[in-house]
Amino acid sequence: MPTLTINGEAHDVTAEADVPLLWVLRDLLGMTGTKFGCGIAQCGACTVHLDGEAVRSCQLPLGAIGTRRITTIEGVGKTPAGAKIQKAWLDLEVMQCGYCQAGQIMSASALLAANPAPQDADIDAAMAGNLCRCGTYVRIREGIKHAARG
Ligand code: FES
Ligand code: FES
Repeated sequence: MPTLTINGEAHDVTAEADVPLLWVLRDLLGMTGTKFGCGIAQCGACTVHLDGEAVRSCQLPLGAIGTRRITTIEGVGKTPAGAKIQKAWLDLEVMQCGYCQAGQIMSASALLAANPAPQDADIDAAMAGNLCRCGTYVRIREGIKHAARG
């Protein structure tokens, strides 16, 4: 029974080692902020942080996590970069339907934590794996710049 550290809290999980983290979060732990989109690491809706790095939880087996710390959309607002990104998202009303935005915020927060002054190319590279069917890409880019300034 692995113990996962999620948003600073320990969670004992009973599941097979090949179960993806996304299913553990949503179905076993009731943390439904992280979304299922494609299930094949192509859309970014399921993005979480693993030791601060943005990863696709739909393709991350439970057995591969080890002792690395997991941060989800439920906890990212407690990190400095996550708080800045969430404020920017509200200030600029980045969201449209909202479905992709938990994943967008997780990728943007990981970027800002690693690079406090990202340029357009940095933003494009960090956000390339997060799709938005509503097309909020322009506001996402502005939101990241707004957060970097703030
Ligand atoms: S649901 Fe994981 S990348 Fe689409
Ligand atoms: S805001 Fe609707 S999918 Fe991105």
